[in-house]
Amino acid sequence: MEDNIQANCESAARRCYGAPSHPQRAPQFSYVWAMPDSNTFNIPAIRGLVKYYLSQAAISVDPFARNKRWATYTNDLNSETAAEYHLEAREFLAQLIEQGIQADLVIFDPPYSPTQVKECYGGVGLKNDWIGGWREERNLMSQLLKPDGIAISCGWNSIGLGVQRGFRKELILLVCHGREHNDTIVTVERKVVSAQLSLISEAA
Ligand SMILES: C[S@@+](CC[C@H](N)C(=O)[O-])C[C@H]1O[C@@H](n2cnc3c(N)ncnc32)[C@H](O)[C@@H]1O
Repeated sequence: MEDNIQANCESAARRCYGAPSHPQRAPQFSYVWAMPDSNTFNIPAIRGLVKYYLSQAAISVDPFARNKRWATYTNDLNSETAAEYHLEAREFLAQLIEQGIQADLVIFDPPYSPTQVKECYGGVGLKNDWIGGWREERNLMSQLLKPDGIAISCGWNSIGLGVQRGFRKELILLVCHGREHNDTIVTVERKVVSAQLSLISEAA
């Protein structure tokens, strides 16, 4: 059963990845039910999607990796996690930019609320300016990505990196966890070239 869900999400991702690029195409949409997990990529459908995009990327970056060392460069502020670096995400991203790294894929899976930080992640990262909504981190991830690169964002909204930063939504996966929990929303976006971007903005 779990294998089926994972396979379906992988195939939705594959359809998106290979599809001809049209700037005004609506994103594909998938919906599944799964048990919640604070290690987001343990959720089978999300794991399938993330693994698929990782398989297509030569250079990938995960600034909030926790114990998943799947990407080329992994970071988590919590020094007890298995990530390679333990920096504030913005500092980690700025360092990669300074080193001239250009990514094919960035993964954006921060804590979703201060309550979640306290209850699920041992209070690490509580200092963050939640009102800002990770604005600086989003800007840096956008800068780090090559044109045509992919951003996968997880959270309780589908904002992602957004049209304003030059991104077109390709796939949205909505994972329902039942009535006690918020759904997890996974948004896959592609960094588009400026000519395509003006078409998207006109359509919005
Ligand atoms: C939602 S979890 C990531 C889960 C991971 N994607 C997985 O599937 O296992 C968010 C992580 O961000 C880390 N974190 C919180 N604030 C941070 C910050 N400012 N910079 C870097 N990491 C941070 C937490 O320690 C936590 O491990």
